[in-house]
Amino acid sequence: INTSDVEQQLAGKRVLITAGPTREPLDPVRYLTNRSSGKMGYAIAEAAAAMGAEVVLVSGPTQLSVSDHIKRVDIETAEQMLSAVTSEVENCDIFIAAAAVADYRLKEVATKKMKKQGSGLHLELEQNPDILATTSIANPDLFTVGFAAETNDVIEYATGKLKRKQLNMIVANQVGINKGFDKDSNQVDILTADGEHITLPEMNKKQLAFDILDIICQTYHKEKP
Ligand code: CTP
Ligand code: CA
Repeated sequence: INTSDVEQQLAGKRVLITAGPTREPLDPVRYLTNRSSGKMGYAIAEAAAAMGAEVVLVSGPTQLSVSDHIKRVDIETAEQMLSAVTSEVENCDIFIAAAAVADYRLKEVATKKMKKQGSGLHLELEQNPDILATTSIANPDLFTVGFAAETNDVIEYATGKLKRKQLNMIVANQVGINKGFDKDSNQVDILTADGEHITLPEMNKKQLAFDILDIICQTYHKEKP
């Protein structure tokens, strides 16, 4: 992708993106997390910047780096991601939630390293806040885009999330062993609040980022001409 001749479709727009996994501590040396690499969210951040947007990337721990002109805010837990998003969202036009947020955190994080007890271990978990739903519902003028990674009934679950979280658009993909998470390519279906359904072919995540943003721009400009 030659970024020098990318159309500046997002010039003057502020785009907020979440990416990567979150990390939920058990004790000072252990945590719960997932297989997200952050590649999709980082690719979207770079593509949005290439299209002229001012980009803020709220990121969980990843092995990736971003260009200097992207503002990156590093967090670890879902609660930290929510507070970073809440303080960055003001004056943003578009919010794209590509992060794989841990659904649960430890009810009580041990302050000292946990010791083996010679038997099984029960951990009590509680649900994390839904960053996307909270942000979308609190900012009705914000154009919100979610991701839905599902192993089965992909379109049905994605449609449910589009409605429940009051999104403008959701990017749905099938995940499984060697599919979706932690890969360089992805195949997605895009569903919009006004009932459009676009099936994209499998492609490299960097190319896919531009295709997703093209569709976001078209839908955004249709709603806000
Ligand atoms: N999401 C979020 N905060 C959470 C959970 C999810 O912002 N606590 C966002 C993700 O970034 C993604 C979308 O919501 O854009 C859907 O995430 P997903 O895990 O597929 O949906 P959940 O609502 O968590 O439902 P479930 O995992 O039970 O399928
Ligand atoms: Ca989830």
